[in-house]
Amino acid sequence: MRARAIESRFEALHATDLTALVGREEECGLLLRRWAKAKTGEGQVVLLSGEAGIGKSRLTAELLQRLAAEPHTRLRYFCSPQHTDSAFYPVVGQVERAAGLAHDDTPQTKLDKLDAVLAQTSTSIEDAVLFAEMLSLPNDGRYPALELAPQQRRQRTLEALILQLEVLTRSSPVLMIFEDAQWTDPTSLEVFSDSGYGDRVGCRLPEASEMPKYFFHIEGSKLYRDEIGVTLPDDGAAWEEARRPVRDIEHYLAPGEEWRLEVCAEGKPVFTLMVSSRRLR
Ligand SMILES: Nc1ncnc2c1ncn2[C@@H]1O[C@H](COP(=O)(O)OP(=O)(O)O)[C@@H](O)[C@H]1O
Ligand SMILES: [Mg+2]
Repeated sequence: MRARAIESRFEALHATDLTALVGREEECGLLLRRWAKAKTGEGQVVLLSGEAGIGKSRLTAELLQRLAAEPHTRLRYFCSPQHTDSAFYPVVGQVERAAGLAHDDTPQTKLDKLDAVLAQTSTSIEDAVLFAEMLSLPNDGRYPALELAPQQRRQRTLEALILQLEVLTRSSPVLMIFEDAQWTDPTSLEVFSDSGYGDRVGCRLPEASEMPKYFFHIEGSKLYRDEIGVTLPDDGAAWEEARRPVRDIEHYLAPGEEWRLEVCAEGKPVFTLMVSSRRLR
């Protein structure tokens, strides 16, 4: 219970003062569609990028709020510009909060709490050692000593983290939010990179070049052939994009005109939207 209180206090601090969300329906829709897909067992990764203050955290807060009623496990990771060199910084924070470690806890209490949270995922004692070391908690004799070279230790810790995630996904879908990833320390970066977590849990961040490019051609009183196109994650996002010009045509559509928008990807039409108007008297 204490752990939950600490986690929710932390969440409250990080919930960017939730003033009513302005717009962002399309972005929210995309996140929810990806979440729905992830729940079917097909892991998804979404990258939100944009300059500071553009509303990335606000959008994740919105997602969390909209998912509040459904059962899921949240793993939240926060990177910090002051800790870009601190190994496993975002992971350490996540585990500390999940275990409910308080600053003034004795090392022994901290280990007890860590053991309690790790027991929930039936973590082995060998893996518990790795978690304790990651959190810089001294082994008070309860764990066997592990003699590992740094690279080996990192690899084993990665395995332990993946196993944890696998166990968690068996009981409910898992939502991982990684904030301010530009400040990830190199060790965590290795863990969460394609060669680490990504490939192992079967979801990788698509390279921009792997995402389809959509072209939005317009025929009407004005002809517009889109030669540049835009890279979007999927057809759903392209559909959202296609609806924008439909809202705008009211400004230049006159009776007796036809307006047509064709969305193409890889040389083939994906959607077509048509508006025709007639004067009937
Ligand atoms: N769509 C939005 N509607 C309402 N407030 C927003 C919206 N986007 C951002 N904000 C507010 O603007 C501020 C900066 O947003 P934030 O999500 O922290 O940006 P970022 O994480 O991209 O740096 C916050 O106070 C946030 O609540
Ligand atoms: Mg932010």
